[in-house]
Amino acid sequence: MNFLIPGGAGYIGIHIAFLLLDSGHDVVIIDNFSNSSSESIDDLENLMGRKITFYQSNISDETELNRIFTKHSFDAVIHLAALKSVSESILKPNEYFKNNCNGTSCLLSVMRSFGVKNLIYSSSATVYGIPRYLPIDEKHPLSSNNPYAETKLKIEEELRSISEAEDGWKIVCLRYFNPVGAHESGLIGENPRGIPNNLMPHIVNVANGELPHINIYGNDYDTIDGTGVRDYVHIMDLSESHLLALNYIGLKVINHEDIELSSIAKAGFHIFNIGTGKGCSVLELIRTFEEVNNVKIPYKFASRRPGDVASCYADVHRSAQAFKWIATKGVEEMCSSAWNFKIRS
Ligand code: UD1
Repeated sequence: MNFLIPGGAGYIGIHIAFLLLDSGHDVVIIDNFSNSSSESIDDLENLMGRKITFYQSNISDETELNRIFTKHSFDAVIHLAALKSVSESILKPNEYFKNNCNGTSCLLSVMRSFGVKNLIYSSSATVYGIPRYLPIDEKHPLSSNNPYAETKLKIEEELRSISEAEDGWKIVCLRYFNPVGAHESGLIGENPRGIPNNLMPHIVNVANGELPHINIYGNDYDTIDGTGVRDYVHIMDLSESHLLALNYIGLKVINHEDIELSSIAKAGFHIFNIGTGKGCSVLELIRTFEEVNNVKIPYKFASRRPGDVASCYADVHRSAQAFKWIATKGVEEMCSSAWNFKIRS
């Protein structure tokens, strides 16, 4: 089968592309390199020992999308193309709405005109806002307190409306918790441009000596040790969830515990959390990183980061039930693979 991956040169996309190629499928990647570079495509080519079909383009460029859909036929689209920094979205909301929302609308209209109606959409736990209860299940109320989260919510609404209004769409929306780690080869991994926002890339940069210490944003939360608790999920587990979601919509891309025919998704909009179901604090993550990699991570406590919540972790029963996806890798493997990628790259 052949899959289009907008945003496929980014951290998550490159791992999904790897798994699809490794399972014998083809991929076409579109990326504008806003938070990635052509190096990740080179790295994937080195890992696979073959060329990857790739277009440097925006999903809001309808002419180019039409050209790509004319040239290739796709069984499904795995849509990851988005700007994703909360702080940047507060400073540049227009860019976020234009890029994320308009880009997605453009992609959807091209998909419709070529009759490609299978879509796996990359959403985020950010759509839950401040958790009202834990673990967070998919029925948890939605809210947003920044433009980035608003774009994710708006797109989810558009996807739901389209799937209700038009026949044939099979859309799976995966709400990621906190993806970290890298492929075991150390050849592909997380390589954000500029100063990273997220915790793991910061830890890795401190371990490498690029940063003197890490600021821990808040040590007075109501958590096990006062630092923020999140649901970190290994990138390979998270990537696998996309392949199982494809199985779930009836495109059998990998052999896995069989989904009964009667359980295959009907047309419509289907939402799943993608996490481990377990919380891990900032200090626990730092200590595990130090232990498994035998490095020191100096840290300082700083004030809370605006917009942060104390704890956020997923209820993961729905994906386990629907398409038999369960995260199998622990925090140790997340830390060792993230560091392995850094020292090899
Ligand atoms: C952040 C985004 C979220 C996005 C997610 C994945 C915010 C407020 N939220 O979530 O919308 O979906 O990334 O891209 O930006 N931390 C430190 N020091 C650091 C960096 C982080 O202590 O230098 C702490 C944070 O306070 C938090 C934890 O580490 O407790 C995880 O932070 P991060 O990796 O940024 O993820 P989220 O805050 O969950």
